[in-house]
Amino acid sequence: MSPTEILADPLDVMARLLAPEGKQNPYPLYEEMRAHGPVVDVGGVHVFVTGHAECARALRDPDLLSTDAAVQDVKLPGWRDHSSWYWLTKNMLFSNDPDHERFRRFFGSAFAARSVAAWQPMVERRAEDAVRNVAALGASGETVDLVPEFTFRMATGVIGELLGIPDEDHAGLRTIVGDITLALEPIGDLAQLVPGDGAMDRLAEYFQELVARRRATPGPDLTSMFIKARDAGGELTDEELVANLMLLLVAAAEAPQDLLSNMVRLALEHPAKGAELRDVPQAAAGFVEEALRYDPAVQALNRVASRDLEFFGVKVAAGVPLTLLIAAGNRDPRRFSEPHVFDPSREDNQPLTFSGGMHYCLGAALARMSAETAVPRLLSRLPDMALVGTPTFRNQIVQRGHDRLLVTTG
Ligand code: HEM
Repeated sequence: MSPTEILADPLDVMARLLAPEGKQNPYPLYEEMRAHGPVVDVGGVHVFVTGHAECARALRDPDLLSTDAAVQDVKLPGWRDHSSWYWLTKNMLFSNDPDHERFRRFFGSAFAARSVAAWQPMVERRAEDAVRNVAALGASGETVDLVPEFTFRMATGVIGELLGIPDEDHAGLRTIVGDITLALEPIGDLAQLVPGDGAMDRLAEYFQELVARRRATPGPDLTSMFIKARDAGGELTDEELVANLMLLLVAAAEAPQDLLSNMVRLALEHPAKGAELRDVPQAAAGFVEEALRYDPAVQALNRVASRDLEFFGVKVAAGVPLTLLIAAGNRDPRRFSEPHVFDPSREDNQPLTFSGGMHYCLGAALARMSAETAVPRLLSRLPDMALVGTPTFRNQIVQRGHDRLLVTTG
């Protein structure tokens, strides 16, 4: 940008990001924000972070807190009357130490690399089920919406089986899970929380019943395993158990389905790269990583300064919120050459999409394995699949994914 060009005010850029057009294509707006630098101070009351190294450092800084109950008391007075955030602040994602460390110790080992590797046959079975479903629906030439029929079915099939949620309940959970993610969007008015509140109440009731059922009749699932560990003296209340089970379902259903639909769209929009993904098994890992970088399912993360500090030369007072625009960090030209080009053969590709530091995504290995398994299988089974119309995205900025993804299967 030349010195004579006038920079748009960061708050104006943010306002345009929150408008429907901004949510459909936020990437040019991230560049407008980046023009102010990798760390953008807005009058000492808010900080936006656009740089890759700066986001990575923020995620590992113990003085930058996740939005727990104490933080929310300052940021969003009145939140305690809303069940969405009541439950969210009881899970590990919206906790800080010592609670976070206690939760991570309790739930973390279930997702260790060895467990995830043992789930591969189950993931393949679920991928086969989702692919067969699309093939059957598309066989008569009808248009198929991949979001409910492939991506949600796959993502919920995997986490549902792990948590012991019966298959017949999966479809009913789709709207509930989607509505809960609305509570994670920037909140201007507490009324925005109402859809998330209703959904959270229904999901809490569902999991309270599931926990009661599995306590009476344990199965081979993680819910039964967590109940057993808690009842044997594990450091966790029953409410915290339910809150974290809900987190596991929502986290493993929503972002993974967005990753899957973004991957299918990218494969169809870039036919040569899609063919490689379909035909060369070794290409899958690079394709997944680049989809995570180029069009991430999670675009932004929030942190709050726990004390007065200096962050890359910017003075940040205690209580000031930082918005880490990780999707902008993923396109930082100082870190990635040709950042706006979708290139699955990139070397040393380290997107910020699974976060970093102590909140690093617990399901990253499972999400990668599921995506590497399901999407090539879909493309091989249905090589003539084609997009119908221009895909659109949900009206959300934090959690980005297609609302519908219409295809014909050939
Ligand atoms: C493409 C798929 C996924 C993406 C992009 C994603 C992204 C993220 C991000 C960005 C965070 C950290 C947020 C922060 O630092 O504030 C996170 C945390 C978390 N994710 Fe994922 N996730 C995905 C899949 C999954 C799956 C499959 C599971 C469950 C098996 C899962 C479970 C969790 C949990 C439990 C946390 C909280 C970790 C903590 O606070 O210590 N995620 N995820």
